[in-house]
Amino acid sequence: MIPTTQPGKVRAGITALGAYAPNKILSNHDLEKIMETSDEWIVTRTGIKRRHIADDDEFTSHLAIKSVEDLVKRHGRDSLEGVDMVIVATNTPDALFPATAALVQDHFGLKAGAFDLLAACPGWLYALSIAKAYVESGLCQKVLAIGAEALTKIVDWDDRATAVLFGDGAGGAIIEAVPEPYGLKSVVLGADGSGAQHLHRRSVGRCLPNGEPLAEHLYMNGREVFKFAVRVMNTATIEAVEKAGLHSDDISLFVPHQANLRIIEAARQRLELPPERVVVTVDEYGNNSTASIPLALKHALDSGRIADGDQLLLVSFGAGLTWAASVLTWGGAKT
Ligand code: UT7
Repeated sequence: MIPTTQPGKVRAGITALGAYAPNKILSNHDLEKIMETSDEWIVTRTGIKRRHIADDDEFTSHLAIKSVEDLVKRHGRDSLEGVDMVIVATNTPDALFPATAALVQDHFGLKAGAFDLLAACPGWLYALSIAKAYVESGLCQKVLAIGAEALTKIVDWDDRATAVLFGDGAGGAIIEAVPEPYGLKSVVLGADGSGAQHLHRRSVGRCLPNGEPLAEHLYMNGREVFKFAVRVMNTATIEAVEKAGLHSDDISLFVPHQANLRIIEAARQRLELPPERVVVTVDEYGNNSTASIPLALKHALDSGRIADGDQLLLVSFGAGLTWAASVLTWGGAKT
């Protein structure tokens, strides 16, 4: 399609959102029965009380599709009309190829391009930044950007330091042109590959002659990632707020990556925001990586915490090491 919009004349924003977490719940008390841990340790160190777990035959594409079904339920089938690009940010694609995004495209019969994006936990914010660039340049009219994870399939259940942290889920949004004053006002993206060893997915087996896949596990040096997270949440959020021409006082709602309540609390204090302006869902879902921010947004919407014109501050960090932050003025969907 020939672009119909002039670069610089359009601002992209989120006009629809949906999210999904599997029904199966694994509580801290359930974990106490299968490893040497305690509800007290997990809650004190992380704020996590339970996590939602995909079934054995439920994979990332299924979760991504369920999140889009939720979006359609909330905003109507029309919200998918004209979607010309599907991006799935994930660390746990169904397969290295084809892209999980192509499975979503096919399921909904979209006439769209499709690709997966790998930028660890900030992947969904990276996807938003690409969607913004596509829409504002006129290359795309409407982008469906999803974060989806079946992380519990790669968690090492023999490693209590990481097994207790993660859960499964997905969330997706439609990004398209919105009128002033709405839309994505600033984007900050960063990476520091010198910290790659602190958080990665690695093979832990040999390829079997019968073709069974290698086992893969998530490895993390929690202490190092913790220090990095606290540092980068601070710098990235301040940069995103300044780039948007705002002050932290102007932020209506802070929606951080849900990895650890202590990390969220440190960021909140640095920004001098009151607790009622922070979304916390880590207690219910654990760390859903790319899905954590869209799931948190859905919760905030459902509990009436986001109003038209609110300034939202989104921030995430993860393997790479990578980080991303963005300020978004909520609203602007055609009614
Ligand atoms: O989105 C991905 C980004 N990842 C993160 O944000 C994770 C960042 N890091 C963290 O959230 C924290 O570092 C953890 C929650 C992973 C760990 O908390 P910590 O306060 O840094 O604990 P630690 O690793 O220093 O371990 C303290 C103790 C150790 O025992 P000793 O050596 O002091 O005797 C661990 O063996 O806690 C022990 N421990 C546990 N005990 C009970 C570690 N995991 C567990 C567990 N249950 N599940």
